[in-house]
Amino acid sequence: MSVGYKAVSWNRQKRIYDLVLASGIVLYLGLFVGLGALVNPNATIETLLIRGFGTCAILLLHVVLCIGPLCRLQPRWLPLLYNRRHLGVTTFLLGLAHGTFALIQFHSFGNLNPLVSLFVSNTRYESLANFPFQPLGFAALVILFLMAATSHDFWLTNLTAPIWKALHMLVYVAYVLLIAHVTLGVLQAETSPILAATLGVGMIVVLSLHLLSAQREQATDAACTKIAKDDFIEVCTVDEIPNNRARIVSLAGERVAVFKYDGKVSAISNVCQHQNGPLGEGKVIDGCVTCPWHGFQYRPETGASPAPFTEKVPTFQVRVTDGKVFVHPQPQPPGTFIEPAYLVTNEVEATA
Ligand code: HEM
Ligand code: FES
Repeated sequence: MSVGYKAVSWNRQKRIYDLVLASGIVLYLGLFVGLGALVNPNATIETLLIRGFGTCAILLLHVVLCIGPLCRLQPRWLPLLYNRRHLGVTTFLLGLAHGTFALIQFHSFGNLNPLVSLFVSNTRYESLANFPFQPLGFAALVILFLMAATSHDFWLTNLTAPIWKALHMLVYVAYVLLIAHVTLGVLQAETSPILAATLGVGMIVVLSLHLLSAQREQATDAACTKIAKDDFIEVCTVDEIPNNRARIVSLAGERVAVFKYDGKVSAISNVCQHQNGPLGEGKVIDGCVTCPWHGFQYRPETGASPAPFTEKVPTFQVRVTDGKVFVHPQPQPPGTFIEPAYLVTNEVEATA
């Protein structure tokens, strides 16, 4: 972490972000209910609200899923990423409003507890046309709840990064459950084909962005020249690394960020301890590698955050010979000091 990083701070940027988000949702719901009542005068306000909240939630979920790959493809989207968690929590709250209204509307007027009724009122699992789609929405809502409830950095620290990240990867399970929930639901309700078409376009956008950013990362990995020298691998030349910046290379399946700063070259893992941000896309600021996503900082020689922070990433041995940079593919334990490769004067001058 860095001194510049504040886990919870309502700065101006966040307030504007949340204001735009809240206004967008109010506008969307207003338009959805207003236009829905005009187009379909027989629809009750409850039905319009259920559909309005549900479609707004799934729309936001698409935005949430697109932000990660968009930022990898083009850093200008990074401001959206800083507050992605607000979008995630809002998605959950909208889904909760939708689910609660649906439970009241469809399950609260019988003898059974609405939650029991949700699971037992339709058990035609063998029929595609009548499949019980609502439990799928419930399962997705449980996942969104777990993610919203653990979204604060407090949980990231206490659950440990691997568990927290695994939990938050469940967003893709929730997405698949919701696609099934909506698709199977549409088969049963007299819903407009616009919803199915929009959902199809949304899926294509999410999938394409993920594939494109994966392809870009693969190209970066492949671009690394692998010439072994005493087990060290040649990764690039010194002048290919901009000053105070890094070149990202892939060694033995692991992404490594090779930084050039103050006439030295050091290599650390490319994966930020906070939320897997790409450290190699960050800059060296005040002598520390600064993650482009939320500003966590690491010393390039040790991979450790400056005191009082305790995050650490693995480091790699580096050599520079004849203007070429060689990195040992074996990661050293997180926080291990590695002597940087010192550039001779002409190498520093050539790249200044
Ligand atoms: C307890 C959880 C849930 C229940 C009981 C539930 C129930 C329903 C029902 C009854 C419908 C059909 C409504 C109609 O056509 O009038 C529906 C549709 C839908 N649901 Fe859910 N749902 C739940 C969770 C979710 C969540 C978490 C999301 C999104 C994040 C979601 C998104 C949608 C969408 C987009 C539709 C299609 C809206 C439309 O019919 O126009 N649902 N759901
Ligand atoms: S600071 Fe958040 S991912 Fe690096």
